Amino acid sequence: MLLRLPHNCSLLCFTLLLCFITVGLAGDPFVFYDWTVSYITAAPLGVRQQVIGIDGRFPGPILNVTTNWNVVVNVKNSLDEPFLLTWNGIQHRKNSWQDGVSGTNCPIPAGWNWTYQFQVKDQIGSFFYFPSLGFQRAAGGYGGIIVNNRDIIPVPFATPDGDITLFISDWYIKSHKKLRNDLESGTSLGPPDGVLFNGLGPYQFDRTLVRDGIPYQIINVEPGRTYRLRVHNVGISTSLNFRIQNHNLVLVETEGSYTVQQNYSNMDIHVGQSYSFLVTMDQNAGTDYYIVASPRFVNSSSAPKAPGVAILHYSNSQGPASGPLPDPPNEYDTYFSMNQARSIRWNVSAGAARPNPQGSFKYGEITVTDVYVLLNRPVELVDGKWRTTLNGISYIAPSTPLKLAQQFKIDGVFKLDFPNRFMNRRAKVDTSVINGTFKGFMEIIFQNNDRSVQNYHLDGYAFFIVGMDYGVWTENSRSTYNKWDGVARCTTQVFPGAWTAILVSLDNAGMWNLRAQNLDSWYLGQESYVSVMNPENDNTEVQLPQNAIYCGVLSSLQKGQARKINFSAAPSPDIRMKTVLVAIVIALLGISGIR
Ligand SMILES: *[C@@H]1O[C@H](CO)[C@@H](O)[C@H](O)[C@H]1NC(C)=O
Ligand SMILES: *[C@@H]1O[C@H](CO)[C@@H](O)[C@H](O)[C@H]1NC(C)=O
Ligand SMILES: *[C@@H]1O[C@H](CO)[C@@H](O)[C@H](O)[C@H]1NC(C)=O
Ligand SMILES: *[C@@H]1O[C@H](CO)[C@@H](O)[C@H](O)[C@H]1NC(C)=O
Ligand SMILES: *[C@@H]1O[C@H](CO)[C@@H](O)[C@H](O)[C@H]1NC(C)=O
Ligand SMILES: *[C@@H]1O[C@H](CO)[C@@H](O)[C@H](O)[C@H]1NC(C)=O
Ligand SMILES: *[C@@H]1O[C@H](CO)[C@@H](O)[C@H](O)[C@H]1NC(C)=O
Repeated sequence: MLLRLPHNCSLLCFTLLLCFITVGLAGDPFVFYDWTVSYITAAPLGVRQQVIGIDGRFPGPILNVTTNWNVVVNVKNSLDEPFLLTWNGIQHRKNSWQDGVSGTNCPIPAGWNWTYQFQVKDQIGSFFYFPSLGFQRAAGGYGGIIVNNRDIIPVPFATPDGDITLFISDWYIKSHKKLRNDLESGTSLGPPDGVLFNGLGPYQFDRTLVRDGIPYQIINVEPGRTYRLRVHNVGISTSLNFRIQNHNLVLVETEGSYTVQQNYSNMDIHVGQSYSFLVTMDQNAGTDYYIVASPRFVNSSSAPKAPGVAILHYSNSQGPASGPLPDPPNEYDTYFSMNQARSIRWNVSAGAARPNPQGSFKYGEITVTDVYVLLNRPVELVDGKWRTTLNGISYIAPSTPLKLAQQFKIDGVFKLDFPNRFMNRRAKVDTSVINGTFKGFMEIIFQNNDRSVQNYHLDGYAFFIVGMDYGVWTENSRSTYNKWDGVARCTTQVFPGAWTAILVSLDNAGMWNLRAQNLDSWYLGQESYVSVMNPENDNTEVQLPQNAIYCGVLSSLQKGQARKINFSAAPSPDIRMKTVLVAIVIALLGISGIR
């Protein structure tokens, strides 16, 4: 929970405020969150089920910060299994220790807590956090991250009248444990049971498709105003087409880059992607309006019965939404979605985290040092287990995180031998990592040999999307690259039977997860890491955090928390709050005393 000042605060709060101001003047501010992660009951599709709540909320609270702020989040794991949060799109400059994936952190055991501390250095934009282990995102546990521009950096559009976050996702009534067991035994996920908006089921737009009594999302707006909608696909594996009846979407930002501002009547948002749209309430409010997220690239037999439907409600609305849902794009137009993706361009003259134009880093003129062509394939049997692969290798997470193994110079945990091409040999299960060149410039081509859309994400970086097309990538494909205003982001789609090419400047030292965002592909092995080390200087990276949890071959280093904490039996929030406040005051007094 974000610390709010209690009503009855006097000297304590005054001191606290004073300290915040002191720190504010002296350096980048700190924000403190204290989150308990636990199962809560929800019935998004009318059936009660266990979901993962952050501080009792599903979706979790929004982390709303400004460029360069320091974020401290104490995560208390009250689930019955290990847990980690990862901060999708946050770059953690030189600090992969805070990335919260199996290759960088030991999981927080059930009943333990662990405090993340990181700076949102030189970034702006819309992102989200989610649980990175054991298919848990299928049960929720996600929430938004907003990184605002500093006051001195202009935003390339007028300040909107409101800021609204929307999470869209496919959803299953089966638990995440059942889903992951199914996958391991070779059963595919099957059609989702529905599509959610902010953890809520569809509005009953059709009585034959949506049962009675399902709570749905209502977005309240004022006529004539313009809102910024931050839309994230936090789902499992379904691409969703997002649209609002009778309203234009003006795309302005994606995953930390301001885009050329363009009108769209709908947008395909793939798993793991985030977009900001400006939407002006320019209709007559004769009725409410539908907000729709409908599955894309799925056969009608494997589509959920109903799409996700929320309601846009003007304060002067004359009645409920009516008429048919706005039309989706034509499913048979294979190029519609790809052309739409290609139309998303970087606004090279806008500044973002720094005042200089985004396009001042001329990526098209930099010499590529490493090329990786990564080929994925549909699920296959590898050594008797159902697995997915990249270049014929299915990643297996070692019990000792890669980053810790590197720190303590433990050999044999992983190999820096990830092949840069598909080798036509038998698929294998391995812990094979990409050896990145520090300050190198890497080109990665994702070649999708599967029948469904795949999405790939790289932690620690934003990459430039320079090309995508159907067919097989060849050296000649480079002639089609966008070398000028390809957008920089952290997740890209790769259409079935197609390729996507990205360029990334490896200036951020660390151990960075390269993964499929579709949970099924990821869970069965479609990931690796890019190890980026400065060969000359160990101090390029932030030191191992003092509170690091140890596991695997390093278990013996673990101190404290030997006894499990029962968070549900923890002191009341009031007492907890005061303890935290006192601790902060002491800490801040310490800091200001030193200066
Ligand atoms: C985020 O915080 C800023 C103040 O720092 C506030 O102006 C803004 O309304 C907040 N945004 C949201 C979505 O809560
Ligand atoms: C666990 O939480 C307590 C406060 O509730 C805090 O003092 C401690 O540092 C946390 N432990 C870790 C490893 O972050
Ligand atoms: C690009 O950003 C500039 C600078 O903020 C802004 O003035 C301009 O309107 C933007 N252009 C487009 C096409 O979005
Ligand atoms: C989007 O469309 C609306 C109405 O059609 C128009 O007024 C507006 O200028 C357009 N915006 C952009 C950025 O093209
Ligand atoms: C849809 O069904 C057709 C025919 O059965 C099949 O060829 C295609 O791969 C399926 N598409 C998806 C996305 O599963
Ligand atoms: C990794 O790459 C660096 C150059 O960037 C090289 O010096 C080193 O030997 C490589 N490591 C392995 C195990 O191949
Ligand atoms: C934790 O404490 C609560 C309340 O005292 C109790 O109901 C629950 O059984 C305890 N859980 C465990 C795992 O000990």
